[in-house]
Amino acid sequence: MQALALDDYRAIVFFTGAGLSAEAGIPTYRGAGGVWASYDYETYACQEAFETDPDRVWDFHDERRKRMAAAAPGGGHLVVAAVQKAHAATCVITQNIDGLHQRAGAEDVVELHGSIWRVRCRCAPRVRPDFSVPASERRCGTCGVWRRPDITWFGDALPAAAVQRAMESLATCDLLISIGTSGVVYPAAELPRLATQRGARAIEINPQATPVSHLYDTVLRAPAAEALARIFPQLSAPPVAEA
Ligand code: APR
Repeated sequence: MQALALDDYRAIVFFTGAGLSAEAGIPTYRGAGGVWASYDYETYACQEAFETDPDRVWDFHDERRKRMAAAAPGGGHLVVAAVQKAHAATCVITQNIDGLHQRAGAEDVVELHGSIWRVRCRCAPRVRPDFSVPASERRCGTCGVWRRPDITWFGDALPAAAVQRAMESLATCDLLISIGTSGVVYPAAELPRLATQRGARAIEINPQATPVSHLYDTVLRAPAAEALARIFPQLSAPPVAEA
């Protein structure tokens, strides 16, 4: 595939999933070593589980938060941020909760599945930017309810404002690049059709085929950073020379 010239496109959308963060050392959810191979999401990542045993759900998310805090943005995150800096009309829509797009420098990231770096409370929509809520503060001192990670769990509705922004961007872009998503979790997986069905240039970056690969006119069966370096060589850091 040829390198892409940013000036050829009016509006660009990146639609990203856990595969992008796999290169930062954060396990994906499915596939080899996936989170759901070790943890049953019905026990650790849904409202019913939270109501049954909030501490177990908090402990699970605390472990994931620590792993994400220790990670650094991968090469793919850096290229996505560089494209957005070089081409203002670029929207980053992610299913990831790790905040690595923002740490790589991307702005106004649309977080369809929330963020592990925020918690909710009944008395304040977003209690604090830092998820590191000590066990003693898992219950709100003001209203007494259990604080809840600001994450879209299975069975939750997606955040309306995020969906609105995602739909607007996908309905108007002329280039969509999907990176590292299995395309099996709805309603998020439905959203890219807003671009592919209009005939926007659509590229899927994923080493594996997915149930939505047929929507894309170009599929790059490669890891994120490698594929992005191929299509945006002008924005990818040169490989560090071996010492
Ligand atoms: N580069 C690109 N893609 C990769 C890489 C890589 N280096 N490594 C793995 N992948 C691909 C896998 O082939 C897989 O298709 O990333 C995808 C990861 O799929 P999932 O683990 O299902 O992640 P995702 O699609 O983001 O999951 C969507 O499911 O569990 C829920 O809320 C959770 O946001 C998550 C949603």
